[in-house]
Amino acid sequence: MENIIEIKNLTKIYGSNPKKAMKCIDEGLSKSEILESTGMTVGLKDINFEVKPGETFVIMGLSGSGKSTLIRCLNLLHKPSFGEINILDKNIVKLNKKDLREFRKNNISMVFQNFGLFNHMNVIENVQFGLEMKKTPNGKRYKLAKEAIESVGLEGYEESEIGDLSGGMKQRVGLARALANNPDILLMDEPFSALDPLIKKEMHEELLDLQSKLKKTIVFITHDVNEAFKLGDRIAVLKDGELIQIGTPTEFISNPENEYIEKFIEDVDKLRVIKCKDIMRKNWLKIGVESSPKVAIMEMEKVGKEIVVSVDKNRQPLGYLTLDDCIYAKKNDKALSEFVKKDYIKVNKDVYVKDIIEDVFTTPYPVVVRDKTEKMIGVIPRAKFMQYI
Ligand SMILES: Nc1ncnc2c1ncn2[C@@H]1O[C@H](COP(=O)(O)OP(=O)(O)OP(=O)(O)O)[C@@H](O)[C@H]1O
Ligand SMILES: [Mg+2]
Repeated sequence: MENIIEIKNLTKIYGSNPKKAMKCIDEGLSKSEILESTGMTVGLKDINFEVKPGETFVIMGLSGSGKSTLIRCLNLLHKPSFGEINILDKNIVKLNKKDLREFRKNNISMVFQNFGLFNHMNVIENVQFGLEMKKTPNGKRYKLAKEAIESVGLEGYEESEIGDLSGGMKQRVGLARALANNPDILLMDEPFSALDPLIKKEMHEELLDLQSKLKKTIVFITHDVNEAFKLGDRIAVLKDGELIQIGTPTEFISNPENEYIEKFIEDVDKLRVIKCKDIMRKNWLKIGVESSPKVAIMEMEKVGKEIVVSVDKNRQPLGYLTLDDCIYAKKNDKALSEFVKKDYIKVNKDVYVKDIIEDVFTTPYPVVVRDKTEKMIGVIPRAKFMQYI
């Protein structure tokens, strides 16, 4: 399955005559003009996007832009006026009541801004709630709930009352309750916006950690652009019910759609967004260490480079060779392997530029970028870093 969610031409009108409002949309009237002339609100207008399995997809926008409307359409708390919502290859708009109930119980869970916990139940009772609805047998229910509680770092609080917990802990319970259900999709509507900045930051780390293990599909709503860029694999920006831009954080920074988006991302700490893989060059001349100095010099001449990566038989980097070294080797009839420079910097592709920028200029060579198996996948010339200093 390539996409777990596919939204097609989704429009949501709040009001008694969606067809009439739709006609106004087709005639080109704006949201405020439609409100004025018909009394109806355009919640969402012709939204299209896809979400891939395991992706954290963030929906961002100012107050009233349609974020909650959109996430509520995904579990049909709001029924769309027009369009399709395909989840797990089914258009959920068309589900009958029974199938919709099953879908909500089994495939999708929601974490709410104001926690949505039951105050008369303790932590583990809250976490077991969805499992009870699903009629999971008692013993299994307890085991799954306990595991979920542990996964969010609340071990030992199983019997605590909700009223005795801090905001951060309450939201951990909310998260545990959603995870205990083991849904395919997790919907999170501004889950951390009620928390203190420090706790919020802690929750971000926690969610990223959890997500690296669980790889759930998450649809996450926020109006906080730094939160969006920190958590989102991709981000969609809504304005007045319309989707303005979808992309990865890097795409937003390197290619903002219009002035509105530019303004929106103004406050983003860009160095915390850009990773080494985003700025690396995939093609950089590699010379087999067994090559003759003459061949190396010819290759360098061809591509106009005076520093090349020297690689072994498996095309794995050994270090750098400079033109001067190659010339010296040629004149003195020596092997290139004697001249390979090892004092270069290697980084994992997912390291943020910010985290290595201090070290980059301690050596004269381009930075080598590697994947998690430590295979070289590109290099970053040092000059590239200058724009981030
Ligand atoms: N039940 C409703 N009836 C009528 N209009 C509604 C209803 N719910 C939302 N709206 C309108 O739809 C638009 C989108 O609202 P929505 O709540 O989805 O925005 P939001 O992006 O979630 O905002 P916030 O950041 O304030 O939560 C707004 O113009 C809002 O006034
Ligand atoms: Mg909202």
